[in-house]
Amino acid sequence: MTATVDVEDLLVKLNNVEKVALLADVLTFWPVPIPKHGIPKIRVSDGPNGVRGTTFFNATPAACFPCGTALGATWDIDLLREAGLKMAHEARAKGTHVILGPTINMQRSPLGGRGFESISEDPVLAGLGAAALVNGIQDDDIVATIKHFVCNDQEHERNGTDAILTDRALREIYTLPFQLVVRDSNPGCFMTAYNKINGLHVSENPKILKEILREEWGWEGCVMSDWWGTYSTSGSINAGLDLEMPGATKWRGATLLQAVGVNKVPQHILDERVRNVLNLINRCAIAKIPEDAPEKTEDTPETAALLRKIGADSIVLMKNDDKVLPLSKEKKTLVIGPNAKIAAYHGGGSAALRAYYAVTPFEGISSQLTSPAEYTVGCYAHKELPLLGNILKTDKGEPGVSFRAYNEPPSVKNREIADELVLFKTELLMMDYECPKLKSPMWWADIEGYYTAEEDCDFELGLGVFGTAKLFVNDKLVVDNETKQTKGTLFFSCGTVEEKGIVKLKKGEKYHFKVEFGSTPSSKLDPGGSQLFGQGAVRIGGAKVLDPEEEIKHAAALAKEADQVIICAGLNSDWEGEGTDRDNMDLPGHMNALVTAVAAANPSTVVVMQSGTPVAMPWASSVKGLIHAWYGGNETGNAIADVLFGNVNPSAKLPLTFPVRLQDNPAFLNYRTERGRTLYGEDIYVGYRWYEMLDLPPLFAFGHGLSYTTFSLSDLKVEKSDKDLNVSVKVTNTGDRAGAEVVQVYVAQKSPSIKRPVKELKGFKKVFLGKGESKVVQVPIEVKYAASFWDEVRKAWIVEKDEYAVLVGTSSQEVPLKGTFEVEKTFWWNGI
Ligand code: BGC
Repeated sequence: MTATVDVEDLLVKLNNVEKVALLADVLTFWPVPIPKHGIPKIRVSDGPNGVRGTTFFNATPAACFPCGTALGATWDIDLLREAGLKMAHEARAKGTHVILGPTINMQRSPLGGRGFESISEDPVLAGLGAAALVNGIQDDDIVATIKHFVCNDQEHERNGTDAILTDRALREIYTLPFQLVVRDSNPGCFMTAYNKINGLHVSENPKILKEILREEWGWEGCVMSDWWGTYSTSGSINAGLDLEMPGATKWRGATLLQAVGVNKVPQHILDERVRNVLNLINRCAIAKIPEDAPEKTEDTPETAALLRKIGADSIVLMKNDDKVLPLSKEKKTLVIGPNAKIAAYHGGGSAALRAYYAVTPFEGISSQLTSPAEYTVGCYAHKELPLLGNILKTDKGEPGVSFRAYNEPPSVKNREIADELVLFKTELLMMDYECPKLKSPMWWADIEGYYTAEEDCDFELGLGVFGTAKLFVNDKLVVDNETKQTKGTLFFSCGTVEEKGIVKLKKGEKYHFKVEFGSTPSSKLDPGGSQLFGQGAVRIGGAKVLDPEEEIKHAAALAKEADQVIICAGLNSDWEGEGTDRDNMDLPGHMNALVTAVAAANPSTVVVMQSGTPVAMPWASSVKGLIHAWYGGNETGNAIADVLFGNVNPSAKLPLTFPVRLQDNPAFLNYRTERGRTLYGEDIYVGYRWYEMLDLPPLFAFGHGLSYTTFSLSDLKVEKSDKDLNVSVKVTNTGDRAGAEVVQVYVAQKSPSIKRPVKELKGFKKVFLGKGESKVVQVPIEVKYAASFWDEVRKAWIVEKDEYAVLVGTSSQEVPLKGTFEVEKTFWWNGI
């Protein structure tokens, strides 16, 4: 796709049927083309941590980047720009013109199902971080889509909830990151949020889309709805929603034509929407990516090296008593934990993607030790049983399962196979599965694999489905998820609960596992909601049944014998994913008991925690070493090992506060939809703004993160011109190895006319220093951004005549340096 179109000429030439056709996607990831007028197809693809390509089902493998909170934890603008550029290269490999990311919603609560996708609880870190990613993506002429504008901050009833918030909170916390992204990177697209704001859905909300985004910020790109997040015809068009996504259209087509015909939508408004879509097509043409390009892989050593660097630079050294870290590569090492032998490399939902490969922590750790590590699982952490694909083999002995699709049910003898595939992952999301030989939406598939038991044991099997499914072991029915179905949270909350059954296995014997699947129309669940799941979905899992107490005793006994112990703990994409929020902040299963017992058995115990958002760690004071490793993408295990063994000196900082208890968090009373609405009762006091205002000590503060070296800050200078502040500070590496520190600049107004947070982050800069090296770091900040709050009476940002403190340090709790600046005259401003 290289040709550009003459937008104004086309606005004259196209008839309204053609114009209307341009305003909705025909298929899920393919905005509509009109070849007659030379209007090509463009391809869009998720998402925030990589580029999945056109399908969920049996997708072409891709590079998975660390999740949003991990990217935020780097606090490294240059590195994020490099990450964005690599995402653009990945987009080219997938023939994609538009990336659906980054995500910058706010982590009001630790429980948010998609909290891991977003960058930070702080609007400045989120906005500047996302702008760097967008700049990197757009440096290579791929278009970025910033999402979800705005206040899609929870999953519970996400399509219907009404976010009730003050204008001040809307501006200072929720729209500010988007505003900074517009100011610093001008993304080509915006995606609207599913929810309402103060009574009106965002996708038809003129205040949000027209007044703020287009008029006030002067942004001229293309606005698309989230998937099935358009809920009206005239309302959405008039408010400024250019594209209804995905197809087939529900609200446009003939309905929109009629709305134009009867003047519910004025012709010039229709033309405005079409103009934005055509401009997007021209912007995409610059990339010169051909239409319908085949999807390719680009699994290069350079990509691996960059992913490994970002992964390691995102890992936060939370605690390092007695310098227990870095660990020795030579010592006798025990690895424990449910996250050791699985790669928890991404969160769940549309951010998930099939990685080229994913290194488990056990593999990463083992590759750096001089003698093999010992291992025991210690406890389980799954919500649904672990996927079986990686332990099954097909009838031909290949890893994975065979998938055979049929037009007839299993009761029909000698059915003809309509499609045959080998799949590795036994979570099959068939929302976009297409097989020309399947004649109707109702079809069937057999999914089969073989397992040779490693020991005598009881083995538990689990089956969740959207459609119907039955699981047989050696032709004996073990799980029936067909006769009776119960709605659950699987597959963006479209599927059943996981139904389970147990079989007895004998060491060395080979077992035949078979699932008979029926597509979507066979489902007995009430379809509800507004999300469609295409052909259906199925998930097949299993694991040996454990005695939790025995397993913990065994782990502690092994720990006593080891020189050093690594516990790989945390969550995974079962717990953190799109469509569902977590119920609590606790680690699953018996993990707390495991950590407590093992740390008591061996003082050289280090915990590697993986989660996208905060978890409670009641044992934190009894463990000497703790790193937070998020979901780290393809190189998860190598990045973890690099930090554990000191190949990389950790330099990441928390982009969000870890509270002690769930009850402490600012959204505790208001984090779910209650009779249609979610009250943003904490107002502007999100994250550290809340903990500081209440003087409520968190477990780990915003901006916290240690290093294997030490730094000192001195010589703070705050220079102010009319418009700009320049904050400069000398940073010295006072320790014995090279490392990096993040200079964090907070501002506090001395005597504001209304209540304001204790301090707010306004700028930051990461600096790399050799042993003993010093550098002067400059952090430029516009005065208007440093000093403003939102004036609800004047509907403008206000900068009050006053004195302002500039607090500079290395975490929100460590701000040793203080400077000041004065504003001589109050003023108001709008725009960016
Ligand atoms: C998500 C979006 C995503 C879209 C397409 C929706 O469910 O909310 O973030 O881009 O799906 O996969």
